Amino acid sequence: MLNELSITLNNETNTNELAIKIASKIDYGTLLYLSGDLGSGKTSFARGLIHALGFDGKVKSPSYSLVEQYSLNIHRVNHFDLYRFKAPEEWLESGFNEFIDGKDINLIEWPEKAYPYLPTPDLLMNWQYMDSNKRKVSITASTDRGNECIKELI
Ligand SMILES: Nc1ncnc2c1ncn2[C@@H]1O[C@H](COP(=O)(O)OP(=O)(O)OP(=O)(O)O)[C@@H](O)[C@H]1O
Ligand SMILES: [Mg+2]
Repeated sequence: MLNELSITLNNETNTNELAIKIASKIDYGTLLYLSGDLGSGKTSFARGLIHALGFDGKVKSPSYSLVEQYSLNIHRVNHFDLYRFKAPEEWLESGFNEFIDGKDINLIEWPEKAYPYLPTPDLLMNWQYMDSNKRKVSITASTDRGNECIKELI
């Protein structure tokens, strides 16, 4: 099973709309990778998603803290940015793997920095910078859960 699609986002409103659609399908326990170009919109998308999931405070970029956590009704969203990892072993040393417990929603920017230690994601979103406001995002679902999230986007 492998479902892939590619979406052109003409502006930030389109990015937010995509975040809202995916949020409406996401289940607790989902693991989502956000990879691709610097400044392509990974954090902006994550912010839209976290808000759409019901968090109404400030969503900071985790680029310095490595992870930011948001409590929702029952579980949490953990938003990682691994860009500053110098070696993938930092994933093991940090204990971050324990966050991926099947209950929280996990969003990981720059997952390739922890390769090969991360579990397989439900969804991989690969972001591409096109021009000032235009972005292309390719989405690959590799689990049933991931497929559910993108079913109505295809
Ligand atoms: N269609 C769009 N979708 C998302 N962001 C957009 C779009 N158009 C313009 N932007 C702008 O592009 C920038 C994206 O920055 P953002 O921090 O989200 O990128 P990022 O992929 O997380 O970068 P990094 O790799 O440094 O973590 C923001 O300044 C945002 O306002
Ligand atoms: Mg970012």
